[in-house]
Amino acid sequence: MKRSTKIGIVTSGGDCQGLNAAIRGVGKALFQHIDNVEIFGMYDGYRGLIEGDYKYMEAKDFSGILTQGGTILGTSRQKFIPGKAIVDDAGNDTMPAMLDTYNRLNLDCLVVMGGNGTQKSAKLLMDAGMNIITLPKTIDNDIWGTDTTFGFQSAVDIATNVIDYIHSTASSHSRVFVVELMGRDAGWLTLISGIASGADVVLIPEIPYDMAKIAEAIEWRRKHGSNYTILAVAEGAVSVNDAVLTEDERRAVKESMKHSTISYSIASELESFTGQETRVTVPGHYQRGGPPCPYDRVLATQFGTAAARLILEKKYGYMVGIQGGEIVSVPLVDSASRTKFLPTDHPLIQTARDIGIFFGD
Ligand code: F6P
Repeated sequence: MKRSTKIGIVTSGGDCQGLNAAIRGVGKALFQHIDNVEIFGMYDGYRGLIEGDYKYMEAKDFSGILTQGGTILGTSRQKFIPGKAIVDDAGNDTMPAMLDTYNRLNLDCLVVMGGNGTQKSAKLLMDAGMNIITLPKTIDNDIWGTDTTFGFQSAVDIATNVIDYIHSTASSHSRVFVVELMGRDAGWLTLISGIASGADVVLIPEIPYDMAKIAEAIEWRRKHGSNYTILAVAEGAVSVNDAVLTEDERRAVKESMKHSTISYSIASELESFTGQETRVTVPGHYQRGGPPCPYDRVLATQFGTAAARLILEKKYGYMVGIQGGEIVSVPLVDSASRTKFLPTDHPLIQTARDIGIFFGD
């Protein structure tokens, strides 16, 4: 009898909406197209692969999870030394343990779902000899090689909703509101939800801001009849002064910050510049929670089924993505090698500027 096809699935890094939809896409398509398939779901990301902690998944495990938030497999952030090793808490290389699980299960391929860090570590697994296919997931939308990632659109919906609701209270109290959105390195989520919700100021990591200019813009708005201002601020937004610092210097500034996050510093500085009462709203992990929006359900299903097709074709070493509306497979070597920052000449930045959104530059 023909040996069965054996697949592992890993969800790694920060969770997001659509992970279960993607797991379901992979599983359903494999059971649909292959007579003899065995699927092993690794618990808590790479931890499951390292410790050999996994679940044998039957066809029924892939039903009823389409709309469920989070990941049924659990996830974790595994430390890694970029380009070198995935390590445990003591700094030991975990590759031998992961290879052992992979080989013991006699896997044909490991499907890894994750963000930028996970793509990089998945490339290390590939270099160590495993057959790997990755799927791009993150609310940050900052993965190279795909126009969008699943989770992103759901987070845009939530972030937009948060700012939509802030308008009325900001207006009632004539206040300035700083709404901090996720995005350490890239401003996609902040820009798009900022446009969608009518934010007045958008601060993103790619465009360093000048606090005095923001204060001037708020003053200008006040003089011209706007009694309140909403700033959509990416958690990774950076001032012009800090933008010129080295990474180490920036880390030191962050550590010495009196406030827990950038928004509180911005709010306190702005309040002293403008004299206008200023409040902060941080939706935080709320942006990553709950059911995926319909767009993400479909996208994650497309990505999952595309991964299954690659497995059928024995085409390994790729990340599934979407470019110009087409589902594509991008060499993992490329997708893992860089971050997709928001280009400062992106047409949406121009759209935002055209309607008067201020970027603090
Ligand atoms: O990478 C996704 C993300 O949600 C970022 O936007 C955010 O900076 C980070 O994860 C938060 O990570 P954690 O869940 O580990 O606090």
